[in-house]
Amino acid sequence: MTNYNKLINNLEELKLLSIKSNLSVYTDMVASKEKSFIDALYELTEKERTMRNERLMNNSVKTAGFPFLKRINDYDFSFQPSLDREEIDDLATLRFIENKENILFVGSPGTGKTHLATSIGIEAALKRYSVHFISCQNLISDLMAAAEENRLEKRLKLYTRYRVLIIDEIGYLNLDEKAANLFFQLISRRYEKRSTIITTNKALSKWAEIFNDPVITNAILDRLLHHSHIINIVGPSYRVKDILSQLEEKD
Ligand SMILES: Nc1ncnc2c1ncn2[C@@H]1O[C@H](COP(=O)(O)OP(=O)(O)O)[C@@H](O)[C@H]1O
Ligand SMILES: [Mg+2]
Repeated sequence: MTNYNKLINNLEELKLLSIKSNLSVYTDMVASKEKSFIDALYELTEKERTMRNERLMNNSVKTAGFPFLKRINDYDFSFQPSLDREEIDDLATLRFIENKENILFVGSPGTGKTHLATSIGIEAALKRYSVHFISCQNLISDLMAAAEENRLEKRLKLYTRYRVLIIDEIGYLNLDEKAANLFFQLISRRYEKRSTIITTNKALSKWAEIFNDPVITNAILDRLLHHSHIINIVGPSYRVKDILSQLEEKD
Protein backbone atom coordinates (compact mmCIF):
# COMPACT_ATOMS: atom_id res chain seq x y z
CA MET A 1 0.00 0.00 0.00
CA THR A 2 1.33 3.45 -0.86
CA ASN A 3 1.63 6.10 1.82
CA TYR A 4 -1.10 8.00 -0.01
CA ASN A 5 -3.47 5.08 0.48
CA LYS A 6 -2.38 4.71 4.08
CA LEU A 7 -3.05 8.40 4.59
CA ILE A 8 -6.54 7.99 3.16
CA ASN A 9 -7.16 5.11 5.56
CA ASN A 10 -5.97 7.20 8.51
CA LEU A 11 -8.22 10.08 7.52
CA GLU A 12 -11.12 7.66 7.33
CA GLU A 13 -10.33 6.11 10.69
CA LEU A 14 -10.00 9.55 12.27
CA LYS A 15 -13.25 10.59 10.53
CA LEU A 16 -11.56 13.57 8.86
CA LEU A 17 -13.87 13.16 5.90
CA SER A 18 -13.72 16.70 4.59
CA ILE A 19 -9.92 16.59 4.52
CA LYS A 20 -10.12 13.24 2.78
CA SER A 21 -12.41 14.49 0.03
CA ASN A 22 -10.42 17.70 -0.53
CA LEU A 23 -7.01 16.09 -0.30
CA SER A 24 -6.28 15.52 -4.00
CA VAL A 25 -7.10 19.12 -4.96
CA TYR A 26 -4.73 20.38 -2.31
CA THR A 27 -1.89 17.96 -3.09
CA ASP A 28 -2.07 19.22 -6.69
CA MET A 29 -1.91 22.85 -5.53
CA VAL A 30 1.05 22.11 -3.27
CA ALA A 31 2.81 20.19 -6.06
CA SER A 32 2.37 23.11 -8.48
CA LYS A 33 3.55 25.50 -5.71
CA GLU A 34 0.27 27.35 -5.91
CA LYS A 35 -0.06 26.91 -2.15
CA SER A 36 2.46 26.32 0.58
CA PHE A 37 2.19 23.14 2.63
CA ILE A 38 1.18 25.14 5.70
CA ASP A 39 -1.52 27.06 3.83
CA ALA A 40 -2.91 23.85 2.37
CA LEU A 41 -2.93 22.12 5.73
CA TYR A 42 -4.50 25.14 7.38
CA GLU A 43 -7.26 25.38 4.77
CA LEU A 44 -7.96 21.66 4.91
CA THR A 45 -8.31 21.71 8.70
CA GLU A 46 -10.41 24.85 8.48
CA LYS A 47 -12.81 23.10 6.08
CA GLU A 48 -13.01 20.12 8.42
CA ARG A 49 -13.70 22.40 11.36
CA THR A 50 -16.45 24.30 9.52
CA MET A 51 -18.08 21.09 8.38
CA ARG A 52 -18.06 19.73 11.92
CA ASN A 53 -19.53 22.90 13.36
CA GLU A 54 -22.26 22.85 10.74
CA ARG A 55 -23.06 19.22 11.44
CA LEU A 56 -23.10 19.87 15.18
CA MET A 57 -25.26 22.89 14.63
CA ASN A 58 -27.74 20.95 12.53
CA ASN A 59 -28.01 18.28 15.21
CA SER A 60 -28.39 20.84 17.95
CA VAL A 61 -31.04 22.67 15.98
CA LYS A 62 -33.00 19.49 15.45
CA THR A 63 -32.90 18.48 19.08
CA ALA A 64 -33.21 21.96 20.62
CA GLY A 65 -36.24 23.00 18.57
CA PHE A 66 -35.01 26.48 17.62
CA PRO A 67 -37.49 28.35 15.42
CA PHE A 68 -34.72 29.50 13.08
CA LEU A 69 -31.01 29.38 12.77
CA LYS A 70 -29.86 32.92 13.41
CA ARG A 71 -26.59 33.82 15.06
CA ILE A 72 -25.52 36.84 17.05
CA ASN A 73 -23.64 38.15 14.03
CA ASP A 74 -26.89 38.14 12.06
CA TYR A 75 -28.32 40.67 14.50
CA ASP A 76 -28.04 44.29 13.39
CA PHE A 77 -27.16 46.15 16.58
CA SER A 78 -27.21 49.51 14.82
CA PHE A 79 -30.94 49.02 14.26
CA GLN A 80 -31.51 48.67 18.01
CA PRO A 81 -29.27 51.27 19.69
CA SER A 82 -30.86 50.78 23.14
CA LEU A 83 -29.24 47.37 23.23
CA ASP A 84 -25.77 47.06 24.76
CA ARG A 85 -23.79 44.87 22.41
CA GLU A 86 -21.15 44.22 25.05
CA GLU A 87 -23.78 42.79 27.34
CA ILE A 88 -24.97 40.40 24.63
CA ASP A 89 -21.38 39.42 23.79
CA ASP A 90 -20.81 38.77 27.47
CA LEU A 91 -23.86 36.49 27.59
CA ALA A 92 -22.51 34.71 24.51
CA THR A 93 -19.47 33.66 26.55
CA LEU A 94 -21.99 31.39 28.31
CA ARG A 95 -20.68 32.20 31.77
CA PHE A 96 -24.31 32.64 32.78
CA ILE A 97 -24.84 28.90 32.35
CA GLU A 98 -22.07 27.96 34.76
CA ASN A 99 -23.37 30.61 37.18
CA LYS A 100 -26.94 29.27 36.82
CA GLU A 101 -28.18 32.71 35.93
CA ASN A 102 -31.29 33.51 33.92
CA ILE A 103 -31.78 35.90 31.03
CA LEU A 104 -34.97 37.84 30.42
CA PHE A 105 -35.48 39.62 27.11
CA VAL A 106 -38.21 42.20 27.56
CA GLY A 107 -39.53 44.28 24.68
CA SER A 108 -42.29 44.90 22.20
CA PRO A 109 -42.84 42.59 19.20
CA GLY A 110 -40.20 42.51 16.47
CA THR A 111 -37.35 43.87 18.57
CA GLY A 112 -35.41 40.64 18.19
CA LYS A 113 -36.03 38.90 21.51
CA THR A 114 -36.53 35.47 19.97
CA HIS A 115 -33.58 36.06 17.66
CA LEU A 116 -31.21 36.87 20.53
CA ALA A 117 -32.50 34.08 22.77
CA THR A 118 -32.07 31.62 19.90
CA SER A 119 -28.59 32.81 19.02
CA ILE A 120 -27.40 32.46 22.60
CA GLY A 121 -29.04 29.02 22.65
CA ILE A 122 -27.14 28.06 19.51
CA GLU A 123 -23.84 29.13 21.11
CA ALA A 124 -24.69 26.93 24.08
CA ALA A 125 -25.66 23.97 21.90
CA LEU A 126 -22.39 24.31 19.98
CA LYS A 127 -20.58 24.04 23.29
CA ARG A 128 -22.59 20.88 23.91
CA TYR A 129 -24.84 22.14 26.62
CA SER A 130 -28.30 20.60 26.43
CA VAL A 131 -30.63 23.30 25.17
CA HIS A 132 -34.38 23.25 24.64
CA PHE A 133 -36.48 25.95 23.02
CA ILE A 134 -40.24 25.98 23.62
CA SER A 135 -43.00 28.55 23.40
CA CYS A 136 -44.72 29.32 26.67
CA GLN A 137 -47.98 28.15 25.16
CA ASN A 138 -46.60 24.74 24.16
CA LEU A 139 -44.85 24.36 27.48
CA ILE A 140 -48.05 25.01 29.40
CA SER A 141 -50.20 22.71 27.26
CA ASP A 142 -47.60 19.99 27.63
CA LEU A 143 -47.49 20.36 31.42
CA MET A 144 -51.29 20.51 31.64
CA ALA A 145 -51.63 17.29 29.62
CA ALA A 146 -48.96 15.63 31.75
CA ALA A 147 -50.74 16.66 34.94
CA GLU A 148 -54.01 15.24 33.68
CA GLU A 149 -52.37 11.97 32.73
CA ASN A 150 -50.53 11.59 36.04
CA ARG A 151 -47.08 11.98 34.52
CA LEU A 152 -46.32 15.50 35.63
CA GLU A 153 -43.35 14.51 37.78
CA LYS A 154 -41.60 12.88 34.83
CA ARG A 155 -42.25 15.86 32.61
CA LEU A 156 -41.06 18.39 35.20
CA LYS A 157 -37.91 16.32 35.65
CA LEU A 158 -37.27 16.42 31.91
CA TYR A 159 -37.72 20.19 31.71
CA THR A 160 -35.50 20.64 34.74
CA ARG A 161 -32.69 18.61 33.23
CA TYR A 162 -31.93 20.96 30.30
CA ARG A 163 -28.95 23.15 31.10
CA VAL A 164 -30.62 25.93 29.14
CA LEU A 165 -34.39 26.16 28.73
CA ILE A 166 -35.66 28.93 26.49
CA ILE A 167 -39.29 29.81 27.15
CA ASP A 168 -40.49 32.06 24.36
CA GLU A 169 -43.34 34.55 24.39
CA ILE A 170 -44.49 34.77 27.96
CA GLY A 171 -47.33 37.25 28.15
CA TYR A 172 -49.17 36.71 24.90
CA LEU A 173 -51.59 34.45 26.72
CA ASN A 174 -52.97 34.82 30.19
CA LEU A 175 -52.61 31.72 32.32
CA ASP A 176 -55.27 30.39 34.66
CA GLU A 177 -54.50 29.35 38.21
CA LYS A 178 -53.59 25.79 37.34
CA ALA A 179 -51.29 26.82 34.48
CA ALA A 180 -49.65 29.51 36.61
CA ASN A 181 -49.02 26.93 39.31
CA LEU A 182 -47.40 24.50 36.87
CA PHE A 183 -45.22 27.29 35.55
CA PHE A 184 -44.18 28.18 39.08
CA GLN A 185 -43.27 24.57 39.84
CA LEU A 186 -40.97 24.43 36.84
CA ILE A 187 -39.31 27.76 37.59
CA SER A 188 -38.70 26.86 41.22
CA ARG A 189 -37.18 23.50 40.28
CA ARG A 190 -34.75 25.18 37.91
CA TYR A 191 -33.98 27.96 40.37
CA GLU A 192 -30.24 28.10 41.18
CA LYS A 193 -29.68 24.83 39.30
CA ARG A 194 -30.20 25.60 35.63
CA SER A 195 -30.38 28.66 33.40
CA THR A 196 -33.66 29.74 31.93
CA ILE A 197 -33.98 32.26 29.10
CA ILE A 198 -37.29 34.05 28.81
CA THR A 199 -38.68 36.34 26.17
CA THR A 200 -41.66 38.52 26.97
CA ASN A 201 -43.52 41.42 25.42
CA LYS A 202 -44.88 42.41 28.80
CA ALA A 203 -43.04 44.67 31.27
CA LEU A 204 -42.20 42.68 34.39
CA SER A 205 -44.27 45.14 36.44
CA LYS A 206 -47.31 43.93 34.52
CA TRP A 207 -46.72 40.21 34.90
CA ALA A 208 -49.50 39.90 37.47
CA GLU A 209 -51.88 40.36 34.52
CA ILE A 210 -50.52 37.20 32.92
CA PHE A 211 -50.83 35.00 35.98
CA ASN A 212 -53.97 36.64 37.35
CA ASP A 213 -52.57 36.41 40.84
CA PRO A 214 -50.08 38.72 42.55
CA VAL A 215 -48.85 36.07 44.98
CA ILE A 216 -47.84 33.50 42.38
CA THR A 217 -46.49 36.26 40.13
CA ASN A 218 -44.20 37.45 42.92
CA ALA A 219 -43.11 33.91 43.65
CA ILE A 220 -42.24 33.36 39.98
CA LEU A 221 -40.46 36.70 39.55
CA ASP A 222 -38.61 36.24 42.83
CA ARG A 223 -36.96 33.06 41.57
CA LEU A 224 -36.47 34.18 37.99
CA LEU A 225 -34.91 37.51 38.88
CA HIS A 226 -32.69 36.52 41.80
CA HIS A 227 -29.69 35.71 39.59
CA SER A 228 -30.55 37.22 36.27
CA HIS A 229 -29.70 39.47 33.37
CA ILE A 230 -32.60 41.61 32.27
CA ILE A 231 -32.28 42.90 28.73
CA ASN A 232 -34.82 45.59 27.99
CA ILE A 233 -35.11 46.30 24.31
CA VAL A 234 -36.76 49.61 23.60
CA GLY A 235 -37.01 50.37 19.93
CA PRO A 236 -38.70 49.82 16.59
CA SER A 237 -39.88 46.48 15.20
CA TYR A 238 -37.51 44.92 12.70
CA ARG A 239 -40.47 43.18 11.08
CA VAL A 240 -42.02 46.45 9.94
CA LYS A 241 -38.79 48.27 9.12
CA ASP A 242 -38.96 47.54 5.40
CA ILE A 243 -42.62 48.52 5.21
CA LEU A 244 -41.86 51.77 7.04
CA SER A 245 -38.96 52.65 4.78
CA GLN A 246 -41.11 51.96 1.71
CA LEU A 247 -43.78 54.27 3.08
CA GLU A 248 -41.17 56.95 3.73
CA GLU A 249 -39.97 56.70 0.12
CA LYS A 250 -43.49 57.36 -1.09
CA ASP A 251 -43.86 60.51 1.08
N1 LIG B 1 -31.78 44.03 14.98
C1 LIG B 1 -32.06 43.02 14.13
N2 LIG B 1 -31.18 42.68 13.17
C2 LIG B 1 -31.47 41.69 12.29
N3 LIG B 1 -32.61 40.97 12.30
C3 LIG B 1 -33.51 41.25 13.26
C4 LIG B 1 -33.29 42.28 14.21
N4 LIG B 1 -34.35 42.32 15.03
C5 LIG B 1 -35.19 41.37 14.60
N5 LIG B 1 -34.70 40.73 13.52
C6 LIG B 1 -35.38 39.70 12.74
O1 LIG B 1 -36.74 40.05 12.65
C7 LIG B 1 -37.59 38.94 12.87
C8 LIG B 1 -38.41 39.16 14.13
O2 LIG B 1 -37.54 39.11 15.26
P1 LIG B 1 -37.88 38.27 16.57
O3 LIG B 1 -36.63 37.95 17.26
O4 LIG B 1 -38.77 37.13 16.21
O5 LIG B 1 -38.71 39.38 17.37
P2 LIG B 1 -39.47 39.28 18.75
O6 LIG B 1 -39.24 37.91 19.30
O7 LIG B 1 -38.90 40.36 19.61
O8 LIG B 1 -40.92 39.56 18.42
C9 LIG B 1 -36.68 37.75 12.97
O9 LIG B 1 -36.57 37.18 11.68
C10 LIG B 1 -35.35 38.34 13.39
O10 LIG B 1 -34.26 37.57 12.96
MG1 LIG C 1 -40.57 36.42 19.61
